Amino acid sequence: MTTETDAGAAPTKAMQKVTKAAQEAEVSGARTETPQGIGHLAIIMDGNGRWATKRGLPRVMGHRAGVEAVRRIVRLCPTYRIQHLTIYALSTENWKRPETETQALLSLLSEFIDKELATLVQEGVSIRVLGDLSPLPQALQAKIAHAVSSTVGMENLILSIALNYGGRRELLRAAQAMAKRALDGEDPEDWSEDDFAKELYTHDLPEPDLLIRTGGDLRVSNFLLWQIAYTELWCTETYWPDFGEKELAEAIHVFRSRERRFGGI
Ligand code: FPP
Repeated sequence: MTTETDAGAAPTKAMQKVTKAAQEAEVSGARTETPQGIGHLAIIMDGNGRWATKRGLPRVMGHRAGVEAVRRIVRLCPTYRIQHLTIYALSTENWKRPETETQALLSLLSEFIDKELATLVQEGVSIRVLGDLSPLPQALQAKIAHAVSSTVGMENLILSIALNYGGRRELLRAAQAMAKRALDGEDPEDWSEDDFAKELYTHDLPEPDLLIRTGGDLRVSNFLLWQIAYTELWCTETYWPDFGEKELAEAIHVFRSRERRFGGI
């Protein structure tokens, strides 16, 4: 068996753990070798605040625990041959929250890059960002750019972090780009859906196969509106910080039992 973690330098402890989990999964038949594989998993990581409040902790502790859950799922994705993981870290609407909370979220991202970048490189994880980074502090923008450029071309997992992201904003931005192209002389009648999709933040990503939402709500909250047209949805009451191996396995099990017809019969 060849696993994605075979490539590169001496494996870290974390990588050895992933490899072991992958081997166990293969033995138990959990590897997704069927056509119903998940190339792209997207996650709305909800419930951090409630997780913290339930424990009498400040909300930001829920987000901190949420970062740990991100690490867990990043490590598990190769087990299921998931090549793309897209997570909703900060929406265009989240700025309505108290500034202390949005600043804490940005600080957690900064800390995540500081602490995890070297490990992510060793694990072959490529970092990308979807969204408008311009309102973020310059130092954080530079740190993100460094993380992106240091991991470019890594192929075990493409981790796309939706940051100051909104699906409607993304669609508007794409429409504006198309309008400019029309002004430059292109004929809109010549355009296909693929041409439009090329103007989205996700232009080089496949569409998500599965969208997981934690925290009990049943809505898409302005996430990947164009891209999830035929994505399977799976929602759980579990708060994001409690989301782990068992919950991911369950989501994938349910996904694999679904029949995807993409509008056909
Ligand atoms: C929703 O939970 C969660 C968010 C708005 C932020 C999610 C962000 C993280 C888990 C951190 C991401 C960090 C990295 C490093 C990518 P909520 O606070 O709305 O939960 P609630 O509904 O219980 O209040």
